[in-house]
Parts: sequence; C-alpha cells; structure tokens
Amino acid sequence: QFAQKNGYRFFMEKEIYEQSDVVSDCMLGRVKNNSINFDEIDESILDGINEIKICACGTSYHASMAATYLFERLSKVKCNVEVASEFRYKEPLLTNDTLFIVVSQSGETADTLEALKMAKNAGLKTLVICNVDNSSMTRVADATILTRAGIEKGVASTKAFSTQAIVLWMLSLYFAKIKNSISHDLIKKEINAIIQVPKVLIVENKLHEKTRRLSKRYLHGHGFFFIGRDVFYPLAIEGALKLKEISYLHAEGYPAGEMKHGPIALADPELFTIALMPKNTLYDKVKSNVEELSARDSTICSISPLEFELSDDFIKTNDRDHYMLEFFEMLVVLQLLSMEISIRLGNDVDMPRNLAKSVTVE
Ligand code: G6P
Repeated sequence: QFAQKNGYRFFMEKEIYEQSDVVSDCMLGRVKNNSINFDEIDESILDGINEIKICACGTSYHASMAATYLFERLSKVKCNVEVASEFRYKEPLLTNDTLFIVVSQSGETADTLEALKMAKNAGLKTLVICNVDNSSMTRVADATILTRAGIEKGVASTKAFSTQAIVLWMLSLYFAKIKNSISHDLIKKEINAIIQVPKVLIVENKLHEKTRRLSKRYLHGHGFFFIGRDVFYPLAIEGALKLKEISYLHAEGYPAGEMKHGPIALADPELFTIALMPKNTLYDKVKSNVEELSARDSTICSISPLEFELSDDFIKTNDRDHYMLEFFEMLVVLQLLSMEISIRLGNDVDMPRNLAKSVTVE
C-alpha cells in the first residue's frame, strides 16, 4: 500500500504532506517529560569525545550542515561536516576523541558507507542516522538511530530530510543534557519548540496555493539564488538542490552575507533571489543583504513572517517564536515551490532525469 499515491499527483507531493506524521513517529518515545531520550544509544557515547565529525551526501549532507550549528550552539561540542566523497580522499586526520556520525536516508550510499568504514577502522566511535533498518551502514556503525520516515519514493528527498533534521536537533539536546552544557530552562524551551514541529509541518492549503500561483513567474530567467544565514543557509542550499533536481533550472544556495563577495555581480531582473528571512535569526542582517540585491534589480521573492517592502513576491509564513520552527515551515515552502515549478514545466517530478534514489557506486 506504500506504493500508492493516495490521490496525490506525485509521490513527492504525498511525501511532503506526510512529513507532519512521520516527524511525530520519529519523536515517539524520544521526547518525554521535558527530556530527550534515545534508548538505542548510551550516555557513555560522549565519554572522551571532544569533537563531532559528520559525513553525508546530497540532501543528507544539508541536514548535517544544519546540525553543525545545533551541536555547537546547544551541546557545546565542536562539530564539522564533510561531503563523504571529499572526506574519503583527503587523507583526513582522525583522532579517537571524535564521534563520527554519518547521515543517510538509504544507508547504502557508497561514499558515505566508505567514509564510515574508514572512521571505524581508525578506531573512532561511530553512529549512523538512517532511515533503513538493516542497511549496510547500520551493520557497520557502533550505534544506529532510525529516522522512521517510512519508504521514500520520490527521488527528490523530502520527508527523509525533515526526519533527519528533527533527529539531529533532538540529539543535540540529548548531548546537551549529558554534558550539562545549557540551562534546564533552555532545554525546556527547546523541547517545547520540538514538540510543535508536527503542527508546523502540516501543509496549509493557502500556502500550497500561493506556491502554485507563484510558480508560473519563475520558469525562466538565468538563475536562482536561494539565500539565508545560520541554519537557513543549509536550508537555502537544500531549496536550491530541490529546484535543480526536478526543474533542471540553475539554482545556487548561498550564505546571504557572501553575496557581496562575487555572486551579486550576476544581479539583474532575470536573477531570482529566494530570500529566507526568518524573524528569529539575524533578520536585520539578512534584510540588508537582500536590500543590496534589490538595489541591483534582482527579482526578490521573500519567505518570511514579516512583510518586506522591497520584495517583488512575498510568501508569508506564520509568526513563530523559535527559529527552528521557522526552519521547518520554510522547508515545506521550498519543497512545494520547486515541485510546482517542476509540474508547470511538465517534468516527471518523481523520476527526474539523470538521478537515482540511491547511489551505491562511487
Ligand atoms: C542520491 C539521492 C538524494 C540523496 C543522496 C544521498 O543522490 O538522489 O536524494 O540525498 O543520494 O542519499 P542517502 O541515502 O545517503 O541519504
């Protein structure tokens, strides 16, 4: 029955709409009594650990990138991330005070699997965050956290990303608890936000309709820049990847503050800027970055709870009191927008050209 579209036009659409439910499943038993627990791992996982290194590919890499902000901000553990295919051949220095995490929907991606084996052979503690039980990575890693997204059919990953993001956010708080790195009040505040995520992921009709209407304005042009700061930078890259994957339009995700160091030279009305402007993180900074682009005549589509007078198009998100809630809501907007553009272009949303769901060869 999982192979049915249940009235949705594409599996991708169905999977976008499923996100609220699968994220609830993913939180089940892990969030309780103002505390985060993972029965599948032990608190000793952080013994002797001074650093976290994450490796992944594709969309899983973007979820991992967002996690580096959370592990440092909440767990207070040094954290960096690398694309698995780069990591493998750079002759990385591996020390056993590093917890090595791989993130993968399939658990089979060749480069990520090899990176995991390298770390394991070097004697590092390893953890895989994965959607497929009994996959190759779960058999190699010391510990596994399953993301419980259910089978994902669309090649453009959606619900796998949201469940990875919630696991990584929960994990950063679990580590914060073990390390006592932030106050109980702050942990409570974070958990209070976490439990609201399923609600935030419910697709509002009005929002979907808005992306459908807007999609026809964005079928041409010479490129898209998705921009954001903080965790909205990895989200911007993910938004750009979604568009590339299924629309075959040129899109780049960029840190908003970096535009002035080169990319702004491309600005003209045919350059579309999709600006992630959350209320709760660096709003004024992003705003001034977008103003610079607008002054150079780039066409601006802002995604924000706050109206921005210079935007040509505006997707209004709900007023939330935590930046990660804005992150999940904007994720849905970006997924819908790329899907609607792809549909309007007449593409096969679920089976984009040249791409495979799982890349098991190098
Ligand atoms: C392929 C898929 C992507 C996915 C990437 C990593 O390129 O098309 O959607 O993000 O592999 O896959 P993984 O299963 O390791 O998350």
